[in-house]
Amino acid sequence: MQHNMDSIIERANVLVEALPYISAFTGKTIVIKYGGNAMNDPVVMRTVMQDVAALKVVGVHPIVVHGGGPEINGMLKRLDIASRFENGLRVTDNETMEVVQMVLAGKVNKNLVSLLNTMGVKAVGLCGKDAGLIEVEKMPAKDGVDLGYVGRVKKINEQLLLALQNDFVPVIASIGTDAFGESYNVNADTAAGAIGGALKAEKLMFLTDIDGIRADEKDPKSLITKITVSEIRNMIATGQISGGMIPKVTGCIDAIEKGISSVLILNGTVPHSILLELFTDSGIGTMVTPG
Ligand code: ARG
Repeated sequence: MQHNMDSIIERANVLVEALPYISAFTGKTIVIKYGGNAMNDPVVMRTVMQDVAALKVVGVHPIVVHGGGPEINGMLKRLDIASRFENGLRVTDNETMEVVQMVLAGKVNKNLVSLLNTMGVKAVGLCGKDAGLIEVEKMPAKDGVDLGYVGRVKKINEQLLLALQNDFVPVIASIGTDAFGESYNVNADTAAGAIGGALKAEKLMFLTDIDGIRADEKDPKSLITKITVSEIRNMIATGQISGGMIPKVTGCIDAIEKGISSVLILNGTVPHSILLELFTDSGIGTMVTPG
């Protein structure tokens, strides 16, 4: 069989393009938030974990923070536990929290860890309770609505991650703990931002099921590849960014304010989105920077 020389040379070019980024990111911490719809498909999950493993192999320190809403819903249904939602947030009673912890820390976390471990890296599964990693306080009741065991991040105790990250890939389920050792459900985007901030991460990547921020919400071709915090604020003020995008972009702004120098919104359902973003000149998602 003949080699197709053009396509082989093209592959070498891809590697050459990646080299400066590999050397820039070696030894740096990159926090990857993985959850939601980007997590539903096992094939996608595999490519996401391949990217995480690849980062580790080239000397980057990736840290995965994950949620797992759909899995929790599935298990609550199997156990016949009804959920009540208030303003889109799940009211987490004792019984629900027990399931959340079992599913996130016991199932989703261990699945991700196992996958990574088959890919030549050493992954370690944690949740916010391990070494007090994610310290929370109970979210105060709003408009008379008590959400139960839903936590607000108070402090990240990053010592454990600093000790692990050189040799292992930490995979963190977004469950927090309070001063009494109670478990709390924590929004995984917020947890990832707080962890990235505490570690002074080089980048925080939000893997979602959208390509990034659009200049025109209805036009898929209007992806913004790079944007500053003040430009985002303007777009919110003019209504150009609205609805479900708001929590995502405010999560980016929070993370930048914590000192992370670039935050990305990426489509995690595109195979190898992490590698494409980090190791090509153009990237693939929306990069949010200070300013
Ligand atoms: N790979 C480069 C980096 O990670 C450039 C990425 C540019 N990405 C973008 N969405 N504009 O720094």
